[in-house]
Amino acid sequence: MQEAARLARAENKIVGLVPTMGALHAGHMALVERARRECSQVVTSIFVNPTQFGPKEDLAKYPRTFEADSQKLAEAGVDAIFAPQPADVYPPGFRTYVNVEGLSDRLEGRSRPGHFRGVATVVLKLFEICQPTYAYFGRKDAQQVRIISQMVRDLNVDVEIVICPIVREHDGLALSSRNAYLSADERKAALVLSRALTAARDELGSGTRDALALQTTMQKVFAGEPRAALDYVEIVDADTFEPVTRIARPCYVLVAAFLGKTRLIDNLYIEPSPSNPDELQFHL
Ligand code: PAF
Repeated sequence: MQEAARLARAENKIVGLVPTMGALHAGHMALVERARRECSQVVTSIFVNPTQFGPKEDLAKYPRTFEADSQKLAEAGVDAIFAPQPADVYPPGFRTYVNVEGLSDRLEGRSRPGHFRGVATVVLKLFEICQPTYAYFGRKDAQQVRIISQMVRDLNVDVEIVICPIVREHDGLALSSRNAYLSADERKAALVLSRALTAARDELGSGTRDALALQTTMQKVFAGEPRAALDYVEIVDADTFEPVTRIARPCYVLVAAFLGKTRLIDNLYIEPSPSNPDELQFHL
């Protein structure tokens, strides 16, 4: 892969990388399609990265659907699939990890200690191996994208990060490979995440700018769905990921909840409208 990447750079190809852990859904394919439009060569990596899973998490049962994934990628016109084995990425004696301080230990990082160290490490390795011009990530993993962007900036990594919108099912559920774990009942209950975010968006639309009021609204929506266990609802500055009290700058409304044993995340991105900074626009 590294030799192919070197050749592509020597030939001045614009290489797009879509890093994935497989179990590809329409959200991943939207990243691939965008890369296809913007790059002359598209590489998709498929690697279920062990270092980003906690000891009690779902590494062993994480869905692995390589044949179906390869077919989807071939149909989408991807030029190469990079699917290394864990021992290729972490050979015996491996000792170096990337830790993006401050951003990595709150929210998802607090619920999943060590998760972002694993993500940042593998993503830097994927960048080194595949040497992309652009790398495509979905906004559903908002904190992940923020941490990767910080890593790229801090370590002078020559890759441009492209952030793509969340893709949802017709009823609002954000696409995730982990949706495959949900029973029919949990699948219905999982709509509480997007319902809570929609309630927050509607309240913002009618003028509320107070973060606590929005949080309370969302907690009430969750209280009406006993099958879901709320992990957190937080409203944070989109740059620092620190909580805000008033919504004025770019912010995220972040939510994480358990449906049975399955943990799902979702978010609403808020930014001032480019044409009128006094107006906010919402990306659900
Ligand atoms: O978002 C994911 O699928 C993973 O965290 C990533 C970025 C491929 C790293 O393993």
